[in-house]
Amino acid sequence: MSNIEQTLSIIKPDAVERNLENEIKEMFKNNGFSILKEKKIQIEKSEAENFYKVHETKPFYNDLCEYLSSGPIVVMVLEKENAVLGNRELMGATNPKDAADGTIRKKYGISIDKNSVHGSDSVENAKIEIEFFFKD
Ligand code: CMP
Repeated sequence: MSNIEQTLSIIKPDAVERNLENEIKEMFKNNGFSILKEKKIQIEKSEAENFYKVHETKPFYNDLCEYLSSGPIVVMVLEKENAVLGNRELMGATNPKDAADGTIRKKYGISIDKNSVHGSDSVENAKIEIEFFFKD
């Protein structure tokens, strides 16, 4: 049975700054994702704090929110069969050092903070994250 899902992807400031937006989008398209919606924006730190609320008790929370709001990002709604897991596989491990060959983070990630992309970690969070950036 088919299981078409949508997931939220963010191309983070380190990748936008290095003009990797189109190369990363090509990787999504070459892996069967449709980009249903996309916009390039810069968010306030307070918005990043809301977006990453699940991490608010973590020691890296403040730096993470500073970083996501430090420059332009590209937010996208991606769709394909099993998109949530597929996107996580294509992104690779959170720390680029641990990411497998052929993944976005292996190819472009600089560090655990500057890891080039974010993707929703579950179908439930994908709905919340898509609504966060694309409420009509
Ligand atoms: P992301 O998938 O956007 O979700 C939270 C982000 O926190 C993660 O990618 C990393 O860029 C960042 N981060 C920084 N330090 C850590 C850490 N120790 N463990 C997990 N994520 C971290």
